[in-house]
Amino acid sequence: MKEQIKELRQEALAALTSAVDLVQLNERKVLYLGKKGKLTALLRGMGNIPAEERPKVGRVVNELRDELESLWTDRENELLRKEQEARLQKEKIDISLPGRQPALGAFHPLSLTIQEIKRIFIGMGYQVVEGPEIETDYYNFEALNIPKDHPARDMQDTFYITDNILLRSQTSPVQIRTMEKQKPPVRIIAPGKVYRSDSDVTHSPMFHQIEGLLIDKNITFADLKGTIQLFAQRIFGKNTKTRFRASYFPFTEPSAEVDVSCIMCQGTGCRVCSDTGWLEILGSGMVDPRVLEMVGYDPEEYSGFAFGMGVERIAMLRYGINDIRLFFDNDVRFLQQFKR
Ligand code: PHE
Repeated sequence: MKEQIKELRQEALAALTSAVDLVQLNERKVLYLGKKGKLTALLRGMGNIPAEERPKVGRVVNELRDELESLWTDRENELLRKEQEARLQKEKIDISLPGRQPALGAFHPLSLTIQEIKRIFIGMGYQVVEGPEIETDYYNFEALNIPKDHPARDMQDTFYITDNILLRSQTSPVQIRTMEKQKPPVRIIAPGKVYRSDSDVTHSPMFHQIEGLLIDKNITFADLKGTIQLFAQRIFGKNTKTRFRASYFPFTEPSAEVDVSCIMCQGTGCRVCSDTGWLEILGSGMVDPRVLEMVGYDPEEYSGFAFGMGVERIAMLRYGINDIRLFFDNDVRFLQQFKR
């Protein structure tokens, strides 16, 4: 009997130390220490030994059970620790690796320019309104005193969708839509996209304009001049001068194109201003009485001025950009330079 116990102990110890993981260790525990395990079987076999030896053998077997159970627990803990360590090792995060910086966006230079122009006019009490990019012939031309077959239509290479529907070629239709909806006084700017079939280093088939319209009693050309002068100084700097040249737009009379003193050479002459000292920035004029009549305003009582400028042109001058297409290529190397 003693021999058997000794053998079982050796066998159990070997099984214990050679178990490679917790699952195997547990299987073997059942095999030796379980209810139907080998140790229990050994105790059952005690029937064969003399009665006086039974208590002694029973004690030895119980001691063996205690010993094995505690060894099993130790081994269990050891394997558990090893498995945990292995898992930690596997899931280790290398915190010394530099993080990946999310690319931060920035405003597009045209958005920055529009924001700045809006800010200036909002400061003078103007409201910002918007209108549709797909327009009718009526709003884009007729109501602006440009009837069909009027030669002024040739000034803008318009994209027609049907005979009567087109991509607006200017933001001026927003003047009409606004005046139709409200009574004077009116004091608005209308920024937005416009479309013309034209493409080179200074023309893009889609570009942005900002229209301005002010209608009230006793508005004169002097108000237009003062407004544009103030705007030019705010956007290009205090020393900016303006020059009004007589021009023609069907919906303004008189009309003027406005130049600012060259922001590169301050008017002494350089490549940017083609040695003239001046840069054209916008079209303007006193709203033609016929336009006022068409929206139901009384031209005897009210007068006003309108102006329209190209946002790309102003942005190109502000940032010294010489190719309009850079705005629309979406090259991040270009766009990143406007991060603030
Ligand atoms: N809409 C004109 C253009 O695109 C500009 C303009 C606007 C002129 C308002 C006068 C008054 O050429």
